[in-house]
Amino acid sequence: MLKLGVIGTGWITKQFVAAARATNAFELTAVYSRHEESAQSFIDQTAPATAYTKMDDFLGSDVDVVYIASPNSLHASQALAALDADKHVIVEKPLVATAMEFEKLDEALRKKPQLYLFEAARHVYEHNFQVVNDFTHRQQIDGATLTYMKYSSKYDAFLAGKLPNVFNPEFAGGALMDLGIYLVYDAVAWFGVPDNAVYLPHFLKSGVDGDGVARLDYGDFSVTLITGKTTNSSLPSEIYSGRQTLTMDNAAELETIKLDDQVLSTEKLANPMEAEAAYFAKAITGQDRNAFDKAWQLAKEVHQVMSILRTSANLDF
Ligand SMILES: NC(=O)c1ccc[n+]([C@@H]2O[C@H](COP(=O)([O-])OP(=O)(O)OC[C@H]3O[C@@H](n4cnc5c(N)ncnc54)[C@H](OP(=O)(O)O)[C@@H]3O)[C@@H](O)[C@H]2O)c1
Repeated sequence: MLKLGVIGTGWITKQFVAAARATNAFELTAVYSRHEESAQSFIDQTAPATAYTKMDDFLGSDVDVVYIASPNSLHASQALAALDADKHVIVEKPLVATAMEFEKLDEALRKKPQLYLFEAARHVYEHNFQVVNDFTHRQQIDGATLTYMKYSSKYDAFLAGKLPNVFNPEFAGGALMDLGIYLVYDAVAWFGVPDNAVYLPHFLKSGVDGDGVARLDYGDFSVTLITGKTTNSSLPSEIYSGRQTLTMDNAAELETIKLDDQVLSTEKLANPMEAEAAYFAKAITGQDRNAFDKAWQLAKEVHQVMSILRTSANLDF
């Protein structure tokens, strides 16, 4: 059983802990929060564990794996500290806010090859992601339009004059970093690293992108990504192959995959984080270097593209 410690006590951490426990491979043993009451309340709502408010004490405990779901700009430094303390790490998307941060993590992992670090890009581990992957690697591709736009639960607060972390440039917030990264994962996994990429954002007054469109150029075809946190879109996503079109109801929540009128696959997940939790547990427990290398190589390519997109839009964190 892997001893799991968590950083950040929001709803997503609760969902991950539930997914991790459902694999029967993890037990929650440590919870870090800046506030004792938040850590204790998290424990009361999830599973028995020790509460920590000092990071050194938390990282000095006997946890095997640290899951990080703090604001984006803290991910890399907290992951580096966890690796330094000889822990495996699972970091919420986006793993990093800059290319330099990715370099530092890559270097730290090279020095400790016994440790694994995964970016929790949850949909990549779902069955339907693989269904699309099989299609794109079998068929000629002529283009794609991928959409993920959701009205943020924090946007009303932003409109009322508050500055939630997800809309704050200091915490590396914004649509591309929060939801756009799912689409970048899609594009890189399904079509590879593009020759060129540009991002045209619409900036909010805080300085982050509220929504935007990215164009990824693959030479023979191009892929359009549409993302945003200030409106809801129910547009399906599409991949074009000659006369045929593969359709997804949502490019990041892949419930139904259709090829023209034929349903190829449909699945409704009670907890969409279970597939990733199972993958991470298997890789760590089995010391499966190939499973780690595959995920890390994909993360590396995704963050190369993320960096190009940010640079093209002068989105520097
Ligand atoms: N995979 C998914 O489906 C999914 C869904 C939602 C979010 N996420 C990712 O999860 C991460 C957290 O998202 P969130 O919306 O929960 O973020 P958040 O509410 O801004 O912060 C998450 C946690 O970090 C701690 N925190 C908040 N502000 C902080 C600060 N100024 N300094 C240090 N710690 C701070 C808080 O824990 P304490 O008060 O206990 O310290 C809080 O519970 C993000 O990276 C996001 O992209 C992923």
